[in-house]
Amino acid sequence: MEFVEHVLVLLHLLGMAAIIGSAVFVARGAATPALVWGARAQLVTGLLLVGILEAGDDPVNHAKIGVKLVVAVAVAACAEIAAGKARKGEGERPQLVTAAGALAVLNAAVAVLWTSGS
Ligand code: HEM
Repeated sequence: MEFVEHVLVLLHLLGMAAIIGSAVFVARGAATPALVWGARAQLVTGLLLVGILEAGDDPVNHAKIGVKLVVAVAVAACAEIAAGKARKGEGERPQLVTAAGALAVLNAAVAVLWTSGS
């Protein structure tokens, strides 16, 4: 079980790298597949992690998870809308891509800096 948890954390970190790497460092302004799939992966791996932690003895900070979920949904919405517009030939949406990257950085900060509560 602990191994599965660690693999999920690894996938969670790779999803974060895909979002922030694409939106902030590599393809500024373009809604790449890495951005879109990274945003989807964060929702899936994050929720699975909550499930696995709840099933075990590890405490889960529900307020922190709630904030992260709302922010991650906003990241996914920005990425999906920007990618959808580009796919339909309605132009790039660089502000949405930048917002997705910035919100992912915010979520990483919440994950690491919010240490109180359980
Ligand atoms: C853009 C979205 C997200 C980013 C950038 C992100 C980032 C991170 C990072 C950097 C960690 C590692 C923290 C550490 O080991 O100290 C982490 C852990 C974790 N994340 Fe996320 N996350 C995101 C979305 C989510 C979502 C949607 C959920 C659940 C609803 C979630 C639940 C968790 C859980 C349960 C952990 C493991 C342990 C903990 O911090 O309590 N994350 N996340």
